[in-house]
Amino acid sequence: MDERAGVDPGRVDELWRRESARYAREHPRCLALRERARGLMPHGVPMSWMASYFAHPPVWVDEGHGAHFTCADGRRFLDTNVGDKSTFCGIDPAPVVRAVQRRVAAGAQFMLPTEDALAVAEELGRRWRLPSWQFTLSASQANTEALRLARHATGRRKVLTFTGNYGGHGDEMLTAFAGEGRLSYLGLAPTADRDIDVIRFNDAGALERALAGGEYACVFTEPALTNEGVVLPEPGFHDALRALTRAAGTLLLLDETHTLICAPGGLTERWGLRPDVVVVGKAAGGGLPLGAYGMTAELAAAFERGESLAGEPGELATGGTLFANALSMAAARAVLTEVLTPAAYEHAAALGAELADGLEAVVDEARLPWKVQRLGPRSGISFSGRLARDAAEADADEQPELNALLRLHLANRGVWEAISTAGPAMSVDATRDDVAAYVAAFRTFVGDVTGSD
Ligand SMILES: Cc1ncc(COP(=O)(O)O)c(C=O)c1O
Repeated sequence: MDERAGVDPGRVDELWRRESARYAREHPRCLALRERARGLMPHGVPMSWMASYFAHPPVWVDEGHGAHFTCADGRRFLDTNVGDKSTFCGIDPAPVVRAVQRRVAAGAQFMLPTEDALAVAEELGRRWRLPSWQFTLSASQANTEALRLARHATGRRKVLTFTGNYGGHGDEMLTAFAGEGRLSYLGLAPTADRDIDVIRFNDAGALERALAGGEYACVFTEPALTNEGVVLPEPGFHDALRALTRAAGTLLLLDETHTLICAPGGLTERWGLRPDVVVVGKAAGGGLPLGAYGMTAELAAAFERGESLAGEPGELATGGTLFANALSMAAARAVLTEVLTPAAYEHAAALGAELADGLEAVVDEARLPWKVQRLGPRSGISFSGRLARDAAEADADEQPELNALLRLHLANRGVWEAISTAGPAMSVDATRDDVAAYVAAFRTFVGDVTGSD
């Protein structure tokens, strides 16, 4: 932690110890479950991120409804992590519950299409203005296939992305996200970085230089980076990105897995973007496994083309046994036709703005230099005095001890904060009372760290 945060590091350490003791006292059953799990699962959790995204131990969940869940110790939390956007529809949206119950009783999986797929593809196509869609079980898999499609369609090997752009758990995407000297992921194929290059987000000059050689199949990015706080594009950046990719014969792949919480057609709709390929996932399945990618008619033709541009016969590498299963498609249909309506988006965005205003008021009252991030229903705090414009700034601005303490402190007051790389988001099921509860808990945190309480 450095002085830019404007708080005393000794006080943060002391609060960490006090709050950790309280958390342990209040979660005996969750901690016991973790201990039992240690012999059964690495890190004592069924998926290791569950242990690494918070500095305090995870709770084990009993059940959840709407914007709240209850842990195995019977404590109730306002859920502002919303499953890292995957439960933006709420934890148990009634239309999804109904559709899933109906579908599971009539068969969840056939490895054959069901009519729900048509409704889902039509609605995604309408929202993102791309006519043709394929489905997977996750956004990582959708990105993997979309990158293959881009390479196949253009006959080019290389992909360009931006430092800090996280596209999921593929080797290539992880090396690019980690970037030089930032993070190191163990176990990746040593050649994973061979065909993916990384430049600075918001750097139109670097983009122009990189694309000039005409060697990239696609530029692959989120419209706004969302996995290190929020990094917004500067004015004109998306125009440059589209113009330069077009001129270079390079496809533009936008990953809207997170940003689809901003509008029915994500930031593509909100900002009038024109990608060649769009990837969605997480909330699109209403909590069930789903990834999807949409493509232009030209790319759909390339998808079906049974040979490479060099004339070698073959088929595009896609698919998985459970991809596009009947259950996920039924859930997605309910999400797109009944849950993620324009009114629901307006509601969540209004709550997000109210949350950001509330946080800003607390920060200003305390005369702290912190800045508040805003991205539709999502907010968050930058503990330095600025909003990052690229991953290097986001890295430099990190205050891990404060970040960790905020999450623990809120947990002890009934608010489950977003994972360490993200900020709180309001689901379509959240209410103004939930916003008020978050802001009240945040005010207590600020009072504690500044010693003004
Ligand atoms: C922008 C973005 N794309 C893709 C993914 C991968 O999603 P999943 O883990 O569901 O495969 C994530 C996950 O956080 C993400 O943030």
